[in-house]
Amino acid sequence: MLLLAKDETGEGMSDIELRDELMTLLLAGYETTATSLAWAFYWIHRQPEIYRKLLQELETLGNDPYPMKIIKLPYLNAVCCETLRIYPVVLIVSPREAKSPIAIMGQEYPVGTALAPCIYLTHHREDLYPEPKKFKPERFLERQYSAYEFLPFGGSNRRCIGAAFAMFEMKLVLATILRRYTFALAEKQPVKQVRRGITLTPAGGVKMVMTGKRMQMEQESASMATV
Ligand code: HEM
Repeated sequence: MLLLAKDETGEGMSDIELRDELMTLLLAGYETTATSLAWAFYWIHRQPEIYRKLLQELETLGNDPYPMKIIKLPYLNAVCCETLRIYPVVLIVSPREAKSPIAIMGQEYPVGTALAPCIYLTHHREDLYPEPKKFKPERFLERQYSAYEFLPFGGSNRRCIGAAFAMFEMKLVLATILRRYTFALAEKQPVKQVRRGITLTPAGGVKMVMTGKRMQMEQESASMATV
């Protein structure tokens, strides 16, 4: 697709432009989702009640883990959203430049000001998210947040192009692994967040131990092969 793409003047991309596009997709698309998954596994296994509720929901899939069914599971969706809320992997959206003077909360910004809304600070506002430091997926079942309140993928015309794919991937990976294996966190102490560039990652990673296989694994593999 990228090789065939043409701009408004009918020009294709140079080799350097193609390489840059591929590097962006690789970095923006891989590191972000991998980090979100690490945080999701961490939070799910820190709170047995959440793990229990999630497994209960995953069990409703029976032996038919059709991906379109998995992505519609409400509690799994809430767990993914809460993971992206509490530690949004990307801390700030790409900076925007003011094309006309703008006032935000009484502060004037002249033309040319670079503005970079902070996702992390928005997601930790007490008025929007009571007890913001607590991992509580239920908040996403109890109310619907607007695009200005919950913005792990940024917003408007530069919103993350991989948002839908990333949510799809997170849900499929979590559902597939949690249905098949059991895990425990290798360390009891909380994992610290560390800033790496514009991303928020688990310091030293999230270390886990596989403690067993779950029952339906063999039946499921057979069913997956028919999807
Ligand atoms: C959980 C996973 C991900 C998170 C949290 C995330 C977050 C973000 C954020 C906050 C932005 C900036 C948006 C803005 O400025 O309004 C962005 C941009 C972008 N993301 Fe993602 N992203 C994720 C996964 C992906 C994936 C899977 C891909 C590709 C397959 C991807 C490709 C991109 C690209 C190309 C941009 C730049 C878009 C533009 O400037 O027009 N991201 N992402």
